[in-house]
Amino acid sequence: MAKAPALLETLVDWSSGSGPLYARLCAALDAAITRGELLPGAPLPPERTLARALKLSRTTVVQAYQNLRQSGRIDSRQGSGTWVRRSEQDLRPSPQEHDVTSAFRRNVVFRSMLEHAQDTIGMVAAYLPPLPAVAEAARLVARQPLHALAAEPGYSPMGMPALRKAVADSLSRADLPTVAEQVLITSGAQQAISLVAGLLVPRGETVAVEDPTYIGAIDVFSAAGARLLPLPAGPAGVDVDRLRPMLETRPRLLYLVPSFHNPTGALLPERSRRVIARLAAEFQIPVVEDNALAGLGLGPALPPPIAAFARNAPILTIGSPSKLYWSGLRVGWIRGPEALIARLGRWKALADLGSPLHTQAMVVHLLAEEAAAEKARRRENRTRLDLLTALLKQHLPDWSWRRPDGGLLLWARMPSGDANELAPIARRHGVAIVAGSANSPDHRFADRVRLPFVCDAATMEQAIARLGRAWQEYRPLPRRAGGRFDVLV
Ligand SMILES: Cc1ncc(COP(=O)(O)O)c(C=O)c1O
Repeated sequence: MAKAPALLETLVDWSSGSGPLYARLCAALDAAITRGELLPGAPLPPERTLARALKLSRTTVVQAYQNLRQSGRIDSRQGSGTWVRRSEQDLRPSPQEHDVTSAFRRNVVFRSMLEHAQDTIGMVAAYLPPLPAVAEAARLVARQPLHALAAEPGYSPMGMPALRKAVADSLSRADLPTVAEQVLITSGAQQAISLVAGLLVPRGETVAVEDPTYIGAIDVFSAAGARLLPLPAGPAGVDVDRLRPMLETRPRLLYLVPSFHNPTGALLPERSRRVIARLAAEFQIPVVEDNALAGLGLGPALPPPIAAFARNAPILTIGSPSKLYWSGLRVGWIRGPEALIARLGRWKALADLGSPLHTQAMVVHLLAEEAAAEKARRRENRTRLDLLTALLKQHLPDWSWRRPDGGLLLWARMPSGDANELAPIARRHGVAIVAGSANSPDHRFADRVRLPFVCDAATMEQAIARLGRAWQEYRPLPRRAGGRFDVLV
C-alpha cells in the first residue's frame, strides 16, 4: 500500500495547477504514474485516508480516482482496493526499482534536479556557482597538447594517475598520510557512496547513519535494500557514547558526515574522531567519513580526517571538489586501505569504466590551489549566511537555528507545525523547500526546514519573503510539532 505520508511526498506540489481540486489531484496522480513514482500495480490509499491526509473532502478524492479509472490509469475492485493499472506493455519493475522509487519519493532534492518547476525559487539543492579557478583550470587543460592527455589510457577505472597522486598529496597535507594506490577516483562523492554500498552492504543488512543525515546517502543505502539504523547527532556531531553498544549489533557499515555535517553544519570534534577511529579498529566495521563539504568551513579549524587516528582500521574517506569548486566537474574520490580500494575499483569499472579524463586533469590543477579556494568560499559563504539569517529574523522571527560551523545549509526549526504541510503552501507562494524529515531515516525532524545559502542576494531576499508569506498563511498553533504521521495507514 502506498502509505498516505509516502504518497504526500510524491504529491507535494499537487495543488499548484489550475481548475477544480479534483482535477488537480487527478493530474498530479497521473503525472506521478507517468514518472514512475507510482509503479504499475502499486496500491493507492483508500479515498477516505487520502482525503484526510490532504485535508480534502472525500468526494474530491472519489472524483479524482473516478477520472483516473475512466482514463485507464488505475483500477479498483470492491474489497480489494485501488491500484495503478498494469498493462501488457509495462516493463516489469525489479525489486531494486521498487526500492529506488520509494527512496526517490522522499528525495525532493534529487527530484528537483530532474524536473524543474518554473516560477519557483528552489531553496532545495546546495551547490554554488563555479569559482573563477574552474575556468582557469579549463583553459590550462585546453592549452595542453591533446597528446599529453591521450598518453593516458582512455579507460582508467582507478582514475588518472596524476589525480590519484594529487588527491593523496592533498590528504597528506591534511594530516592523513596517503599514497596514490590508496585513492580511487569516482564520478563525484555520490558515486563513491554507491560503490561502497555495492561492495559492502548486502540487501537486508544494517547501515548505521547519523539522524539526521545526507538525503543522498539515505537513498543509496535504501535503494541497496539496507535497513538504516539512526544514531542521534547534535551540534557536536554524532554522539560517540552511543557507538559501542550500536557496533555490538554488528552493522555492516557506519556512514558519517563529520566535516561539515549535512544538514546541521556541525563539525565533529577531534576527541570524537579519535573514539570513532579506535572503535573502527577494534570492531573492524567499515566507517565511511563523507568529507564532500570539508572545504567549506565558516570559522573553526578543521581537525584531521577520522582515518588519521587509526592507520589499520577499515575507514573510507570520501572527498569531492563539487562543493568547493563546482559540482559540474563530477569528480570525487575514496581513500582507504589499498586492498579495499582495489576491490572498489572493480565496482567502478563495472559502473562506467572510469571518469572523464579532461575533468580529472582540471581537478589536478584545482587541488594545487586549495587553500586560496577555501578562503574565497569562506568569505562569500559567510556573507550569504549572514544575509539568510538577517532575512529569517525579518520574515520568520519566531523560527530558530544554530549557526552552522560550515557547509551550505542552515537547519532551521519552526516553532510549531510540520514542514511537510508548509512545503506545498510555500510552493504556491513560489518557493520550494525541503522538510527536515527527508533527512531522517525515521522521518523525524518534521519541524525543521533545510535551507541552503547558495543563491545571490536578490533571489534569497525574494525566496525568504515568499517563505515568510507562506508561514503567515500556515502558522499552526504550537501543539503538534512533527505530528504528521498520525495519518499513517
Ligand atoms: C554529504 C554529501 N555527500 C555527497 C554529496 C554529493 O557530492 P558530489 O557532487 O561530489 O557527488 C553531497 C552533495 O550535496 C553531500 O552533501
